[in-house]
Amino acid sequence: MLLGLWLSAIPIQAETFTLRTPGTQLVLEATQGQDLQLLYYGDKSATASDIANANAHAFAALPAFGSVDMIYLPALQVQHADGDLNLELVVDKVEQLSTVNYQLSTITLADKLQPFTLRVYYKAWHSVDIIETWTEIEHREKKPVTLKRFDSGALHFYGDNPHLLHLHGDWAAEAMPTVEPLTRGMKTIRNTDGARNAHLDAPEVMIALDGAPKENYGSVIGAALCWSGNYEIRLNAANNDGYTLYAGIDPQSSEYVLAPRTVFVTPHLALTYSNEGMGGVSRAFHRWARTCGMMHNGNAVRDILLNSWEGIYFDITEERIIAMMNDIAAFGGELFVMDDGWFGNKYPRNNDSSSLGDWVVDTRKLPNGLKALTDAARERHIKFGIWIEPEAVNTASELFEKHPDWALQARGRELKLGRGGTQLVLDMSNPQVQDFVFNLVDTLLTNNPEISYIKWDANASIQNYGSTYLPKDKQNNLYVDYHLGLVKTLERIRAKYPNVVIQNCASGGGRANYGLMPYFDEFWVSDNNDALQRVFIQWGTSYFFPSNAMAQHIGGSPYLMTGRVAPVKFRCDVAMSGRLGMELQPAHMTDEERAQCTTAITDYKELRPIIQLGNLYRLVSPYETVVGPEKQQVASLMYVTDDQAQAVLFAYGLTSFMKQQSRRIRLAGLDPDRTYTLTEKNIRHGEQPCALHGKSFTGAYLMSVGLDIPLSTEYSHDYPSRIFLLTDK
Ligand code: GLA
Repeated sequence: MLLGLWLSAIPIQAETFTLRTPGTQLVLEATQGQDLQLLYYGDKSATASDIANANAHAFAALPAFGSVDMIYLPALQVQHADGDLNLELVVDKVEQLSTVNYQLSTITLADKLQPFTLRVYYKAWHSVDIIETWTEIEHREKKPVTLKRFDSGALHFYGDNPHLLHLHGDWAAEAMPTVEPLTRGMKTIRNTDGARNAHLDAPEVMIALDGAPKENYGSVIGAALCWSGNYEIRLNAANNDGYTLYAGIDPQSSEYVLAPRTVFVTPHLALTYSNEGMGGVSRAFHRWARTCGMMHNGNAVRDILLNSWEGIYFDITEERIIAMMNDIAAFGGELFVMDDGWFGNKYPRNNDSSSLGDWVVDTRKLPNGLKALTDAARERHIKFGIWIEPEAVNTASELFEKHPDWALQARGRELKLGRGGTQLVLDMSNPQVQDFVFNLVDTLLTNNPEISYIKWDANASIQNYGSTYLPKDKQNNLYVDYHLGLVKTLERIRAKYPNVVIQNCASGGGRANYGLMPYFDEFWVSDNNDALQRVFIQWGTSYFFPSNAMAQHIGGSPYLMTGRVAPVKFRCDVAMSGRLGMELQPAHMTDEERAQCTTAITDYKELRPIIQLGNLYRLVSPYETVVGPEKQQVASLMYVTDDQAQAVLFAYGLTSFMKQQSRRIRLAGLDPDRTYTLTEKNIRHGEQPCALHGKSFTGAYLMSVGLDIPLSTEYSHDYPSRIFLLTDK
């Protein structure tokens, strides 16, 4: 995380003030004794007089129930200690802090009647077009106040036929972009899983202001709620031709009981605006994630790994693990990760029905413990990683026998059991459980200092709504306090172990969100490793998340979930567009597969800094559906370095028919005045590079005319794909 120097912290008298990022501005009016008004959010080119003259569009920055802005849906609603339901929040003071990295504005609002305070924060990053907003709620009333709605932020905007893009999905089918016009009335996106929030509807949206969103042009707002629990994002068409975005914790079943003199901090809402379409919004989120601390070690490149899960599942033995280490080392990989199945004493973890909570090595499977494995990894010059699921417990476990009260449960009601018919979620609101989770990680890493990577899983939703720790009158705080407890625990872990790479996994991409990414280095994009479906899943995920956070593994063929047979080159090329890994049993691979994976890993090492840290340009969407033999359905994307000197281009053929028309692909993000030479990479085993290999083109030509990339399938094979390195030498 970048730490800046505080340059000034002066209360200002400002009535109208502007927060600026390189390409955007947000203008507020904060007059003492008046409502806080949002005057403008958008492109930096609007002048002060443009904005002042359009003042009719001023809008309460956070409409509150009971205030003069009752015509708007409230972003805030409380019930005071004496039963009063109203909030009339007026500006008390404005403070500005400036650091080398960002400008932070704090506007303190006070209720006209009750001793109730709201601090509204806006943090504008100097290097990235992202403004984060959130609030702190505090009161000095005689008894607790109930927070009935407590959005992190609201944003009023205008558009001509605005469209919403959000990611809808499921387990093994994450991140399907859904685009729809914003019609009159309210559109709500929410998630009520309790523990994870990205599988079904993810907490990030884009809003194209003028018609359906385009990839590389047009005005688009992006918003990401940095929270991993239940949330609600609402888009309301107001009666003045404007629209309002509201985003915050879902108040359903979470009306929060706030004790006097306690500060409640809402999650950050990250906002961006771009004239470069969805691509511009994505690049802003990626850069912010990497450089502004929203991802742990965001600017580091990630190792190439083999994960044991789809290769051997629970059938772990020392011999099998060491054989897999030999394989990944021989391919040129850098890390081996032992997945589920290594633990349990009284209850061995042979399937998913037992043992979670008992984080001790199963010595029947691993007689020489983890030490033998970390030694073996070191001897092979690779690193070692391990799977845990710390927030979970099975009823068949020693932990549950000892601490049944640590599981979430509704008193007097029968337990609802999850995965394996026995899984429960631990009560992360309970400090004893937080200590247990911290200690299990601490013990694992202290006893095995050579563990350099952890896969942190979360395979259950909250099904038992109740905490034995929270008092009767605070049961409603559970959904929120669970996540505050989790984050507190992760902060402790990160303070002690800043360099261990930790993967955020939740049955695949169930926790791909910016609430948790500040504590994680990457996330498991999906449990589905079918390369064809991965093209789609990774495409959607890339709208908001950077490539070095996206764990993408080469799976087996035929693939176990879909039965699809796909060439190893295609499987490699699809995985190589993010953080490359493997997830199969190398012992079952053919010689051709082994040779191709070795080439892929060698080439990926050269391309990795461009892929993992470059700027993403999506070129042809797999969602541009072309059904039938006339024209080929393709997907293509590229990464370009900041200095535009190098780029990596990926092209995938998704359908194969004889004599079908190929697609011309126009590149993006290059310097029009430079000449780029193409070098084909990960060439299909036994084949020569294609005709474009070694050819040079100007950036202008590549971006305006484009390339016919040979993706022919005639007489050869399904799922053709190509990767090129572009250099300006
Ligand atoms: C979840 C994860 C998988 C794997 C299994 C192990 O489903 O998403 O990758 O780790 O758990 O049980």
